[in-house]
Amino acid sequence: MKRIEERLKTCKRCELWETRTNPVVGEGSLSAKIVFVGEAPGYYEDLKGKPFVGKAGKVLDDLLESIGLQRNDVYIANVLKCRPPGNRNPTAEEIRACTLYLDAQLEIIQPEIIATLGNFSLAYIFDKFGLHSKKDKISKIHGKVFTVSTIAGVVKIVPLYHPAVATYNPNMMETLKKDFKGVHYAFLTC
Ligand code: URA
Ligand code: SF4
Repeated sequence: MKRIEERLKTCKRCELWETRTNPVVGEGSLSAKIVFVGEAPGYYEDLKGKPFVGKAGKVLDDLLESIGLQRNDVYIANVLKCRPPGNRNPTAEEIRACTLYLDAQLEIIQPEIIATLGNFSLAYIFDKFGLHSKKDKISKIHGKVFTVSTIAGVVKIVPLYHPAVATYNPNMMETLKKDFKGVHYAFLTC
């Protein structure tokens, strides 16, 4: 993981290197059973070089706490390691350029559960694990557990809303909490 972090500092595989302050590799335990995959660093993440340290990060911390977990019990990564200017959506090209890093991180950690945060993470992880036919709107499949067999063993994939939704729609907090309970149940039974 240290080597990946070092590589990110000089990575120019897509044009986002030109506008980033710091790349954000991720944070947490390398022996975590659960990996959360967000979208990309935002303003504060870019400044600090850490994932989910802004408003959405506060929501994520609250959700983890609601199931009795702390950041160090899990690993938190993103699809893109550098911030898209103005927090615009990632492009397909950027995702293609950057996801070798996320792939390598998942190889290292070998999680039992991958919880996707938001649509870009959902799309990438579902495609990666051959769940193309199961892809659907997040409003349809949030909180559901999709079990896939890989050569390394069974992985449970749980699509979740991005925690940022609760910052502009507080009603979503209840939905997120319920879905996190589902993640916790998958964690206790794996
Ligand atoms: N949103 C994300 O998707 N990732 C972060 O690290 C912060 C905000
Ligand atoms: Fe490299 Fe990813 Fe940053 Fe693009 S977003 S420069 S591919 S680390």
